[in-house]
Amino acid sequence: MSEIIKAEGIKRCFKIAGNDFYALKGIDIAVPKNSLTILKGRSGSGKTTLLNIIGCLDKQTDGTLVFDGVDITDYTEKQLEKIRRNEIGFIFQSVALIPVMSAYQNVEYSLRISGYEGDRDERVKECLAMVNLTKRASHMPEELSGGEQQRVAIARAIAHKPKVIFADEPTGELDSYTSLKVITLFKELIAKEGITIVMTTHDPKMMEYGDVVYEILDGQILSYKNNLTGETAAYDINIDIQPETEGEASKESEEPAHEASDESTKPAHEASEEGTEPAYVASKESAESARKGLNGGEGNE
Ligand SMILES: Nc1ncnc2c1ncn2[C@@H]1O[C@H](COP(=O)(O)OP(=O)(O)O)[C@@H](O)[C@H]1O
Ligand SMILES: [Mg+2]
Repeated sequence: MSEIIKAEGIKRCFKIAGNDFYALKGIDIAVPKNSLTILKGRSGSGKTTLLNIIGCLDKQTDGTLVFDGVDITDYTEKQLEKIRRNEIGFIFQSVALIPVMSAYQNVEYSLRISGYEGDRDERVKECLAMVNLTKRASHMPEELSGGEQQRVAIARAIAHKPKVIFADEPTGELDSYTSLKVITLFKELIAKEGITIVMTTHDPKMMEYGDVVYEILDGQILSYKNNLTGETAAYDINIDIQPETEGEASKESEEPAHEASDESTKPAHEASEEGTEPAYVASKESAESARKGLNGGEGNE
């Protein structure tokens, strides 16, 4: 088994003013172990909703979820909490370090909370060294730059040796140079620590750094690209696709999601899937045919 996460048919319904609103409309994704997987899409497309579900913070309305080979679809909140504590680390856009604690103390505190059984002092130093902050160990968050604070948050997220790190727009508040350093650090951690990182971004420039990139639009997968294998796929999601602008696109410009019916928004591969081959391992040929035949000429790239 090469995937750490496999999600199929994920839907998430929110009740808004008494109406059902589907923020996710049937998402299939597979996250390879030891990869940087990027969930890319404009603001409001459903990235955070999806990340929260595969990160065991939220529960899907429909669909199945397998984490490290175990079907956790029907796990209780208590069981999910255990996975979160032991197997998962989180990094958020707004860094959220504890302001009255130094860099060292922030990482050490998180190790204490997670019940880490090894030598905490050694592990804190090791993690601060990994993010190149050994010399800043005693600095308080307010004495650190935005990029340094985000690196403390990364050290904190990896400290208890989770299998997967979920990072929601980790570069969202950083300039492009600092963002690039964070991505480079992610890649180093994947290589050195053997972890898997799933991150969201609305920044098109980040795409080339992902081993696997899923593009999400309106709660559906629009395209899939695996830079390790060269596989690509594009899906017909039957909505009025607006041209993407650089950076954050305005939510108002999107067609209201609830107007699209469930049936019309099924990913194309669900209709054309040929039995045994998992949907996400669409071959180049099927990606081509998806583009030519099923997309009806709509631009997906
Ligand atoms: N708790 C919630 N209640 C109602 N609507 C929500 C909730 N969370 C997200 N949404 C809606 O779901 C859609 C996707 O949101 P989100 O996953 O945050 O998008 P992204 O992270 O891509 O910007 C948005 O239209 C958002 O308003
Ligand atoms: Mg978000």
